[in-house]
Amino acid sequence: MENLRNGYLFPEISKRAFDHTQKHPDARLIRLGIGDTTEPIPDIITSAMAEYAKALSTIEGYNGYGDEQGNMALRVAIAETLYRNMGIKGNEVFVSDGAQCDISRLQMLLGSDVTVAVQDPSFPAYIDSSVIFGRAGKFEEETGKYGNIVYMKCSPENKFFPNLSITRKTDVIFFCSPNNPTGNAATKLQLQRLVEFAKANGSIIIYDSSYAAFISDESPRSIYEIPGAKEVAIEVSSFSKFAGFTGVRLGWTVVPEELKYTNGFPVIKDYDRIVCTCFNGAPSISQAGGLACLSPQGYEATTAVIAYYKENAKIIADTFRSLALKVYGGENAPYIWVHFPGQKSWDVFNEILAKTHIVTIPGSGFGPAGEEYMRFSAFGRRENILEASRRLKSLYK
Ligand code: MLT
Repeated sequence: MENLRNGYLFPEISKRAFDHTQKHPDARLIRLGIGDTTEPIPDIITSAMAEYAKALSTIEGYNGYGDEQGNMALRVAIAETLYRNMGIKGNEVFVSDGAQCDISRLQMLLGSDVTVAVQDPSFPAYIDSSVIFGRAGKFEEETGKYGNIVYMKCSPENKFFPNLSITRKTDVIFFCSPNNPTGNAATKLQLQRLVEFAKANGSIIIYDSSYAAFISDESPRSIYEIPGAKEVAIEVSSFSKFAGFTGVRLGWTVVPEELKYTNGFPVIKDYDRIVCTCFNGAPSISQAGGLACLSPQGYEATTAVIAYYKENAKIIADTFRSLALKVYGGENAPYIWVHFPGQKSWDVFNEILAKTHIVTIPGSGFGPAGEEYMRFSAFGRRENILEASRRLKSLYK
């Protein structure tokens, strides 16, 4: 814990936003910082949760503990709906209270002795939980990196895909696509190279597909679209951004039976043991909601909400393009990654907050390669997105 350099990024952003509102009580704050959903959950999904909750008041409908791994009907629905034609079975899906919590449970599975590589920039939970598990080493001020973590730089120069020919071999590779924060989705060819790289090095990929529902082109929505991935990859994912469940809480992790340690022992057996020891299963009401999300009507309704956020993303991206800034992401993800050449991202954060009352996230919060970049979240009510666009245009015109 002593090695952790800062507080966790998102509470730090919330604290700065709170301080700002204390100083400017009359300002209308617009939050384009943490990726928190704002649109109502479609009625077909909340009705299923309400019905389930109501039934808990009856003898027939009452349920206590569920299976730690999740309700089998939901596990099968996830496998059949989201991993269709990928050969994932219900028993390989572990339902949870969210991807971030699963990352920590996976860290427990991996233990303290493993070496780790992360995309730079990346979702800070991969690094911070690695520090907590004692394998990151000391933070080096000069490089902005933890000494024992391998940072795989992802920038416009390499099309946001790491140069694997210079990447050191590690036991574990965290990889997020569509990426948080850059919004870039890896192509099939890139993921094939990643899987080959992991195979050649005996690495396990922890693949985070929490934003897969935002993909609108041919990019894979799951690592298991890549032949051979089941032998090297665990996938974590979430209903948070896909169905507006950031508060409801529901996610899952896939551990394929084919994934084995060097001694041939299946990783799924250990993960099952960890889950049974550390977790009592996802809330049953959330799981009822999850099943409704995967029904044809539920899935269609969530797709409409995602389309709304993607329109927001386009408005934000167009705003910065009109200001002649370089803009990335936004097409396959709810995040827009904007380059502010020559500027420190915390300075840009402070200026935008002070002058426009808009909360953003400085790119350097996601790793040293995020310096000079800012992340803007497309989650928000349309009127706020349009107002933010007006304010940003008048700040930078
Ligand atoms: C983000 O803003 O990067 C994420 O939404 C935060 C989270 O999922 O914890």
